[in-house]
Amino acid sequence: MRVIETISEMRRTCARSRDTKLALVPTMGALHEGHLSLVREARKQCSPVVVSIFVNPKQFGPSEDFQKYPRAFEADRAALEKLGVDYLFAPSAEEMYPPGFRTSVVVEGLGDRLEGRSRPGHFQGVTTVVLKLFEIVQPRFVFFGRKDAQQVRIIRQMAGDLNLYPEIVTCPIVREPDGLALSSRNAYLKNEERQAATVLYRALETLRSEILAGQRNASPLLASMRQVIESERSVSLDYAEIVDADSFEPVMACRKTCYALVAARVGATRLIDNALIEQAGDSFTVTL
Ligand code: PAJ
Repeated sequence: MRVIETISEMRRTCARSRDTKLALVPTMGALHEGHLSLVREARKQCSPVVVSIFVNPKQFGPSEDFQKYPRAFEADRAALEKLGVDYLFAPSAEEMYPPGFRTSVVVEGLGDRLEGRSRPGHFQGVTTVVLKLFEIVQPRFVFFGRKDAQQVRIIRQMAGDLNLYPEIVTCPIVREPDGLALSSRNAYLKNEERQAATVLYRALETLRSEILAGQRNASPLLASMRQVIESERSVSLDYAEIVDADSFEPVMACRKTCYALVAARVGATRLIDNALIEQAGDSFTVTL
């Protein structure tokens, strides 16, 4: 695996691959099995595979955890090497945002609600860096996790609106045995908090069993989810919503394809999770 730190070298390397099945897996590092599942899927479908590690300052708010965001470059490099990744692109912040940088990409509407409301400017930072990575690496396929469902929806919108070359591939959520979705921020959780953090999954499980029992209306489903989350004293709910998978607007009742999205603070750590709700005729499947 070759480690590449400059944009010019990355461009030169990938320019030759324009017609091949070049894959990009963008990450912020501190890699866990969730990230590695994307890399494995990319390896299965594509070659060569580029993984980027860049803790993107533009997607962190001024009071967020940019400084203390976990960084584990040597362990990440070893894990990617083991999976047979071809190139690790790891630019510095100065390389990506040199003095005088002024441009940002805004996907209107979709980024204002949910994560966008709780984290102003976040998605603008994400779309800006993702568009840069698309241009630098010029991948045919880019792999994202459904863990960040709103992020994938916004990136798909950007790719469609701007006629971008890469195809977006979405991969399932990888969870701990007790249901907690893997996240680099799980490293912040103290012992008791780690246990309490499963409440997001438990709330989504409650939603799933109620939908499978025939409940379709958002308001009782959300009330049950909130009740589960409120049962954990160390957890404070940011939002729980059921939205249409396309518009990301709240729905009155589940139909076609929806997401149940939840964000909560466990102690000082903010976590998100979601369930995909799909209608097939009269029945529904709920994928956690
Ligand atoms: P990061 O949080 O490092 O996540 C990188 C990718 O891993 C994202 O596509 C995310 O959805 C996926 N991922 C994280 N946890 C996962 C899990 N438990 N199961 C499956 N996939 C998971 O998301 C970002 O970085 C950044 O916003 C980025 C797109 C790299 C732009 O800076």
